[in-house]
Amino acid sequence: MKLCMIGTGYVGLVSGVCFSDIGNDVICVDRDIKKIDDLKKGIIPIYEPGLDELVIKNYRNKRLKFSTNLKDSIAKSDIVFICVGTPTKKNGNGADLSQIYNAAKEIRSAISKFKIIITKSTVPVTTGDEIEKIISHKVSKKLFSVVSNPEFLREGEAIRDFTYPDRVVIGTNNKKSNKILKNLYSPLISKGAKYVNTSRRAAELIKYASNAFLATKITFINELANLCEKINVNIEDISIGMGLDKRIGGRFLRAGPAYGGSCFPKDTKAITTTADKYKTNLSVIKSVIKSNENRSSLLLERVFNILNGKIKNKKICFLGVTFKANTDDMRDSSSLSMIPSLIKKGAIVNYYDPTGEKDDFKKIKNVNFSINIDSAIKDSNLIIIHTEWNEFKSINFKKKVKNKKFIIFDMRNICSPAKMKELKIKYFGIGC
Ligand code: UGA
Repeated sequence: MKLCMIGTGYVGLVSGVCFSDIGNDVICVDRDIKKIDDLKKGIIPIYEPGLDELVIKNYRNKRLKFSTNLKDSIAKSDIVFICVGTPTKKNGNGADLSQIYNAAKEIRSAISKFKIIITKSTVPVTTGDEIEKIISHKVSKKLFSVVSNPEFLREGEAIRDFTYPDRVVIGTNNKKSNKILKNLYSPLISKGAKYVNTSRRAAELIKYASNAFLATKITFINELANLCEKINVNIEDISIGMGLDKRIGGRFLRAGPAYGGSCFPKDTKAITTTADKYKTNLSVIKSVIKSNENRSSLLLERVFNILNGKIKNKKICFLGVTFKANTDDMRDSSSLSMIPSLIKKGAIVNYYDPTGEKDDFKKIKNVNFSINIDSAIKDSNLIIIHTEWNEFKSINFKKKVKNKKFIIFDMRNICSPAKMKELKIKYFGIGC
């Protein structure tokens, strides 16, 4: 099939490349000329394991193309995916849909034969209705169908998540579009993905509800971890004991720092804002947002206690600063608030991240980037394991840290407390 992806951000690029890999002709369009030139040279704008190989392979075999010409790309395609950003509004908590509506306006000026127009970006319920209105202003409704097909990719796991999704959600009442899209996704359905055809509004809401539910699950276990710390119980035992109940499930039940990234913080705010508009109080999700916003201060308090209130001139090392492992994404990472707070209290922070130095910290005095784990940890008083990269899981701290009284605060519980005890390392985890 002939597809056009509008926007080569995370969702557009990964989905476009993966669609081409399962045999479709895909044009990825972006108005950023440099980005498109780079992609043609095999330079990938995001860190995503395995993505560069797939881009190069499919670009070479000509199933994947990159372009800045939107009109021409739409004209050559049967299905147009809108994959532009829907960030939080600058002056509010709702989603800023200006890029979506601009795309709709551009699409309408390029339709001359039937097109399926799909929102893959996360958009509030009724956005599809709005897009339909914008396009039908100038184009007959017989020439297009607007469908919602939300994406459930995780950064760092995106190719696997695309190839083996739990479900494909298609929001449309249009039988023709449904048939075409079921066919488009048939290679994934044959590998076990469930195909869900529902109304457009329901599909839009499924995306927000899923992210809000996962954020709630994480926040639930994070709050229980706070209790565990006070009663000498290990939160990992609770996660396992609860997660084995199939009604609950063990995934997204790992306690850690505040959840971050470009999705959970943004989408929880957007769904409560939408609900407020319809005079419905999503109080559970509102309380999740509050609890998560408070989590970094709670963890800082714990750091303060671990260091017996003496933070001034302490050398604190952060292992990993992104919002989770296997990504270079700093958006809403808890390190962005924790590191400056520690600096304000007089600490000296060294950090190492496998994805390199971060602009966010370049201008902060007393924050230094180390080029490898050894130099980052060697002089530390306190080592904070902030993300769960595999390379942090088997560090020989005893051998590598010069200061023999060093302490570890493992915010991802990747070390074994029993092993740390055996090695006589002063160790603190989350919820234990
Ligand atoms: C999330 C969803 O998982 C995807 O399904 C969705 O497609 C995506 O948002 C999106 O809307 O585009 P992502 O933001 O890439 O994906 O990252 P997650 O793996 O979900 O992690 C989000 C945050 O939760 C991270 O800070 C992570 O460390 C934290 N987390 C996750 C936990 O603290 N504990 C867990 O058990 C799982």
